Formats: sequence, C-alpha cells, structure tokens
Amino acid sequence: MQLRRAVTLVCYWHHDDFVIHDYLRRTTTVFDPVAAEILSLFDDWTDSEQAVKNLDGCDPESVGQAIAALRERGLLLTPKEFGADGGMLERAWGTWAPEADMFHFATRDASFEEPTPESRQERVREGRPAIFKNYPGADRILLPRRPARLTDEFGKVLYTRRTHRAFTGEPVPLDVFAALLSTVFGPAGFIDADAFGTLMLRTSASGGARHELEAYVAVFDVTGIESGVYHYNVLEHSLELLRQDCSREHAARLCADQSAIRDAAFVVFVTAVVERMAVKYRHPRAYRVMLMNAGHFGQTFALTATALGLGPFQTAAFNDSGVEQMLGVDGMAEVALYALAAGWPTGPGPARSPAGLESFGRTVLCTESTVPRD
Ligand SMILES: Cc1cc2nc3c(=O)[nH]c(=O)nc-3n(C[C@H](O)[C@H](O)[C@H](O)COP(=O)(O)O)c2cc1C
Repeated sequence: MQLRRAVTLVCYWHHDDFVIHDYLRRTTTVFDPVAAEILSLFDDWTDSEQAVKNLDGCDPESVGQAIAALRERGLLLTPKEFGADGGMLERAWGTWAPEADMFHFATRDASFEEPTPESRQERVREGRPAIFKNYPGADRILLPRRPARLTDEFGKVLYTRRTHRAFTGEPVPLDVFAALLSTVFGPAGFIDADAFGTLMLRTSASGGARHELEAYVAVFDVTGIESGVYHYNVLEHSLELLRQDCSREHAARLCADQSAIRDAAFVVFVTAVVERMAVKYRHPRAYRVMLMNAGHFGQTFALTATALGLGPFQTAAFNDSGVEQMLGVDGMAEVALYALAAGWPTGPGPARSPAGLESFGRTVLCTESTVPRD
C-alpha cells in the first residue's frame, strides 16, 4: 500500500513519553521513539512493504506492526486521505507552518466547563495573582485626578459599555441593526496599496489593512428580517441568506449553552479568510495580528451597540467545527474566530465611571498576591 506521512505532525517529549501529535486531526499518541525513524521513511509516497525492507537492522515483523499502528492512528495516510483538503492547508497556512496552524488547529473545539466553587478555590489555593503591578522603589510622578476631557457622547459610551447577558426579547428595529453592521463591518474608505490593490478601511484598525475578517449574522429578532444565517456583504451593505434552519437553541448549543446567545436578538460570527492576511505577511506572528484584529472588531461592536442603546455580548466559547459548518465555511481557508451578540438589555448594567478615590482605596489588597480569604 502506498503511504505518506501526514504533514501536520509534531513530535515532542512530555516527561518520559515520546508523543506524536497530529495537530490538524487533534490526536496525540505515545510511541517508542523509533516511530520517528519509521515515519521518516515516508517523506514521499512509499510502498509500506518496501519500507519494511528499507529499515536496516530491524525485525521486519515489528516494523510492519509499527507501520500498521501508525496507519491506524492516521499518521501515515493513503493518497485519498492525504489529498482530502485539496491543498488548502498548504495554500492558506503554509507560510505560517507549523507555529500558527499548530496553535490554531490544536485549540479548536475545546470543551468549555464552568469551574465549580470547589475548583475555583483549588485554582487559587497557592494565592491569587496580583491584579496590579507596581515598582515601590521607583521615583514617581503623581498624575492629576481630573476627569478626562472626552466629548460627552464618547465618554458616556465608553463608560456605559458593559457585557450584557440578559435581553428583553423585544425585536431590534431594522435601521438600528443595519447601522450597527455598517458602522462596525462596513467600509469607511478605500486606499491604493500598490501590488496589493485596493484595500478597505474600517472603523477598527487592521494590521496592514488586510481586513481578512468577515461577518456572518444569525438573526433571531430583527424587525423585517426572517430568522436565518446570513453573510454580511460589506460592499453592497446587504445580507446574503445562507440558511433558515438556525434556531436560538442551536446557536446557544454551539456556544457552550450560554443563555446570552440564546436570548440575544442576533449573533455575529466573525471569521478570518486566512490567505488574505498570509499573502502579505509570511511570518506566523501574523496569526497574532489576526486575533488582535478580531479583538478590535469586538470592541468596536460593543461600543457601537452601546451607543445605539443595545447590550453587547462577546464570547470565544464556541465549537469551531459546528459554527463553521453552520456558516458553510471550510474551517481551513476560512476559520471562525469570535462570536458577538446583542439585544435590548434588560437593564443598564452596573453603572461605571472612572474609578474614584474610594475605589482606588479598595485596591491596596490587589497589588500583591494574596491567599484567598473565606
Ligand atoms: C474575548 C472575550 C471572551 C469572553 N467570553 C465570555 C464568555 O464566554 N462568557 C461570558 O459570559 N462572558 C464572556 N466575556 C465577557 C467578559 O467576562 C466581560 O468582558 C468581563 O467580565 C468584564 O465585564 P465588562 O465587559 O462588563 O467590562 C468575554 C469577553 C471577552 C473580551
């Protein structure tokens, strides 16, 4: 049988174990280190029986058994298995391999468990990390404690933004919803980027103005829009219907059963078209930039929703495969990064303003690691 080594393998020692990790298929297997030598016979298409003969000084029967075990674990692939992605992994992630794709694929479809009161206590048994850092011996300049001269509207939006998890269930008017989408995801202008062509500018900064992020919306309660999953067409400012069979319960299930997703008027799933970023930036560090860009979207979404009177919610706790399947994206060239939701909040959320003297006074305990108090 013709076999070839999977390209997404990383081998490492973990304590005393030699581990072979296929980060794309998310399998980790403890093997004898000789497995690495056997895998090295399969750089290219190789007949497994020929490979047994090629390994000098080893018992052919045990080499045959090892090949069968590697095959069974999906570390040696048939031509059909090897070409299953049509070269997409190499095209989208090849220049960032293995660092970025290893991190991305190895952390997909994580399980999200709420810590119990006991496990919370256990996690801080050795003390809580300090939430502030200071240099007690350093010369210091005390700064004036005066309210910043923000414009009224900006200051209000900034300090009233809170994550909301409860919504009234009232429909969001179409013009409010449309204004949110265009403000956060729509183009704010265009620039000429020479060889890279025309690029978009948005209200959020984006590394290299690559704007690799796309927005899909699961609509549940927006006036005049049928429930369904839509792609937001940025250029046209339109919603492109992808499917109508997405219930609130399904969306919530995909997001670790969070009630905020179930009760929101709509949920925006942010994806990244990887190649749009990778074509310019060839270092895996660009993956970090992609995550930062998604974070910028999250903040702009939250502030804009707040300015419109909506309550924003954001989460990274979702099942990548399920979300990507719902959106109809392949999870390789285009991957889900972030879920943003909004609806009419049931209340204003705890009011906040720049922390005053009284709350600064309460922070003293936080500047050093402290053991948990009863
Ligand atoms: C990247 C990111 C992921 C988050 N994920 C969740 C989540 O899964 N569930 C949740 O209830 N809140 C989530 N939050 C909300 C935070 O818990 C919240 O921002 C934090 O408690 C501070 O509250 P504030 O947003 O009102 O300032 C997330 C926030 C961010 C920025």
